Amino acid sequence: MLSEKDFIAKPLSPSIENGSFQWSAPSNIALVKYWGKKNKQIPANPSISFTLNNCKTITKLSFIKKNSSITIGATIEKFSFDLLFEGKPKEDFKPKIQKFFERIEKYCPYLIDYHFIIDTQNTFPHSSGIASSASGMAALSMNIMSLEKALNPEMNEDFFNQKASFLARLGSGSACRSVKGNVVVWGKHDEIVNSSDLFGVTFPSNIHPNFNNYQDTILLVDKGEKQVSSTVGHDLMHNHPFAEQRFAQAHQNLSCIKTVLETGNLDEFIKIVESEALTLHAMMMTSLPYFILMKPNTLEIINKIWKFRNETTIPVCFTLDAGANVHVLYPENVRDTVLQFITTELVGYCQNGNYICDSIGTGAIKNL
Ligand code: PMV
Repeated sequence: MLSEKDFIAKPLSPSIENGSFQWSAPSNIALVKYWGKKNKQIPANPSISFTLNNCKTITKLSFIKKNSSITIGATIEKFSFDLLFEGKPKEDFKPKIQKFFERIEKYCPYLIDYHFIIDTQNTFPHSSGIASSASGMAALSMNIMSLEKALNPEMNEDFFNQKASFLARLGSGSACRSVKGNVVVWGKHDEIVNSSDLFGVTFPSNIHPNFNNYQDTILLVDKGEKQVSSTVGHDLMHNHPFAEQRFAQAHQNLSCIKTVLETGNLDEFIKIVESEALTLHAMMMTSLPYFILMKPNTLEIINKIWKFRNETTIPVCFTLDAGANVHVLYPENVRDTVLQFITTELVGYCQNGNYICDSIGTGAIKNL
């Protein structure tokens, strides 16, 4: 079992002058939610997610060896990088990357030897209300690991992926679940072999065919900026009156969903997934300060899904992130009927009628 110390790279000489890599990494949708963290991005409870396939960040990392630290004014800039978003410089993304580099410096000391150009874009619209931090941090971490592997070619694939997930976690917690597919667990859980608070691991048992190519249609109810940043959100769980019960419940729900994923019991799947979504929002409604992140249309959609499910017995359900958009989850064999239902009954509740069709995917891919 790897510990934090195993991720500290031994000093590597910057034996490569320049080069570039490109990785794409997907977003993921949690079934059992991570909400609340301890120091250093350690989750307060374990979580499990479906890795997505179409909602991705594509990031090209170009690097060139520095001669010496670049001096700006009187300060020496330790990390030197330019950031491009969709081909154009994007200054407001830089502080987040700067902070990420500072956090991972201990594990990737070779970063200070290079100047980087980080050229990034998403396959989903920028202001869709879909957070790109998971896919973005995962794609960047994969690139950084490609550099580390170039400097240290002995590294094996398992370590590469575990350290990429470890680094991604330090960028944005849930990003550690975006390195691999199709189902990933993050956080120590008694019944999940090798599970760790430090990185995500692929769900270790066989997954029932009911979940093959499981569908996620994301209904874009509100495309605005997040009302509550995840940092603020996770903080709300400190001194939250229901925090301990919630963390215990997440452990239980993960045990239950483990069996569900193995046996293919879709009724149980629906119960756990919808309850988790509502619990996440309940935690926000019962914290101080309190928030309601659902919009009236979120509730309209939920009620329509329940009605449709009651009338048809088609196992379609919803989950939510920390926002108003609704993820509609359903098996592949009912895709046509559910899409028909979505386009006739649900699209009217989406901002400008926008929605994104996605499905469960296999994780990050190297493009270059
Ligand atoms: O990774 P963060 O810090 O953005 O937190 C993500 C939290 C949720 O999306 C609400 C739940 C989850 O497990 O992904």
